[in-house]
Amino acid sequence: MGQNKMGLILVFLFLDGLLVCLAADVHYYDFVLQEANFTRMCSTKSMLTVNGSFPGPTIQARKGDTIFVNVINQGTYGVTIHWHGVKQPRNPWSDGPENITQCPIAAGTNFTYEVILSTEEGTLWWHAHSDWTRATVHGAIVILPAAGTTYPFPTPYKEQTIVLASWFKGDVMAIITTSIETGADPAHEDGYTINGEPGDLYDCSNETTYRLSVEYNKTYLLRIVNAVMNEETFFGIANHNLTVVAQDGAYIKPINTSYIMITPGQTMDVLFAANQTLSHYYMAASPYHDSVVTFPNSTATAIVEYEGNYTAPSSPFFPTLPAYNDIEAAQKFTNSVKSLANEEYPINVPETIDTRIYIAVSINALTCPNSSCDTATGDKTAASLNNVSFATPQIDILQAYYRGLNNVFDQDFPNEPPFFYNFTGDVSNVSLYTAQGTKARMIDYGEAVEIVYQGTNLRAAMSHPIHLHGFSFYVVGTGSGNFNNVTDPTNYNLVDPPEINTVNLPKSGWVAIRFVADNPGVWFLHCHIERHASWGMDTVLIVKNGTTSDTSMLPPPSYMPPCS
Ligand code: C2O
Ligand code: CU
Repeated sequence: MGQNKMGLILVFLFLDGLLVCLAADVHYYDFVLQEANFTRMCSTKSMLTVNGSFPGPTIQARKGDTIFVNVINQGTYGVTIHWHGVKQPRNPWSDGPENITQCPIAAGTNFTYEVILSTEEGTLWWHAHSDWTRATVHGAIVILPAAGTTYPFPTPYKEQTIVLASWFKGDVMAIITTSIETGADPAHEDGYTINGEPGDLYDCSNETTYRLSVEYNKTYLLRIVNAVMNEETFFGIANHNLTVVAQDGAYIKPINTSYIMITPGQTMDVLFAANQTLSHYYMAASPYHDSVVTFPNSTATAIVEYEGNYTAPSSPFFPTLPAYNDIEAAQKFTNSVKSLANEEYPINVPETIDTRIYIAVSINALTCPNSSCDTATGDKTAASLNNVSFATPQIDILQAYYRGLNNVFDQDFPNEPPFFYNFTGDVSNVSLYTAQGTKARMIDYGEAVEIVYQGTNLRAAMSHPIHLHGFSFYVVGTGSGNFNNVTDPTNYNLVDPPEINTVNLPKSGWVAIRFVADNPGVWFLHCHIERHASWGMDTVLIVKNGTTSDTSMLPPPSYMPPCS
């Protein structure tokens, strides 16, 4: 199962009068959604998987290839899959978010996604995009350089995907369904995993700890995916320096560091040289948590084991990671990421913009009709962008837009917060309540767009990893406090801003991104902390067609899963 068959398409281009032949491969995978039993942290449960594995299978391709994934749903409820960070040029039909670009693939049916790679190179990932199913249904996408080209760094001796995830003892679908019914916050994860294993620090876990064996003096490339549901993560390897060379499927200027901070949704390619004393060393992943909200503070571990004969201490060396609330350490790492921006890997950041969207990002409250909520306050937690808490429609927005169906969504997502206050100051006099709606922001084809995300201190100030489908974007500026639209843009980095798909909005601060809206379609935009997304911290960008067929959405495939 999960076989990778290959085909070949030849694309002929006339460039400067020369006939150039670009070979792009086509790959075929079968993803069977099925329940499987797993035992972790002393308890066993049945959970939804792809092909019975956790994490799920790795997809491997080269830059520019196309991948067909036939998803065969042998589970008991409808699911969709998203190819996180794949731009899917003109092809929102295969993007995946449930009721945004498609209705779910019903149990007992199948659907084939066409995953079109273009400029991405490095590591991305795929995950279910229906309710909380992504907790167990996810895996890595490895995108190698195009044939005949190579990495912008010495070729590593070996590569290994490292998938960080959450472990819930309970059934994740039950957790989110109960939370929606009662209005109570959804349960936290019970722990974290590295390549599916929690590691030695958790009960009943040390026999199965993930182990990576390394040869002395060789360099390894770790392709790290953060599939954790609700917490950001610090990661490191005891006694070993890390060299970060890519993020979110684009190369960066190498960063030498002893730790990384990676948010849910992000991917990082990290080199490490096995150049320490022959022994064994922990790699560890633990939460970065900058708010007062309680959270599961525990650490997933795996073990890097040198090959050869030696007597090692009984317990492996342990890395020193920043404290869970070390905001400075997190921001220092995040702000050190710069794109390569050289001749071979140029950037394409808009120097002037056509439109700026200023989005206040908040945690709020909603009243429960007839005190139907089972919470102390009688209210329930909500979240919003510009005071609109996103309500997921019953029919996908893409279909409604394409067919001109009314009453599915509105086109009036506000361009700025509906009222201004000191977003990052004392907010005790500001209402916690938010409006609800299904509102999209319309964008003309080819517009140079800037989005400034503004953190607010409502309810609980904290950072938010905000992901945009259909694009990668340049992070041109970030700062603490309220964004100043006169002075802050003068300090933007338009020289080597990182090009990523999930940006961390710092606690009580702002971050500005830019991109050219050259991908027509319906693109979800949301916080990648799953509880926040469930609470409504989402919206949709609709990029209209251009004037030619090359700048317009592809027609829908002949079969799309029907909306029931
Ligand atoms: Cu990785 Cu809309 O998600
Ligand atoms: Cu968030």
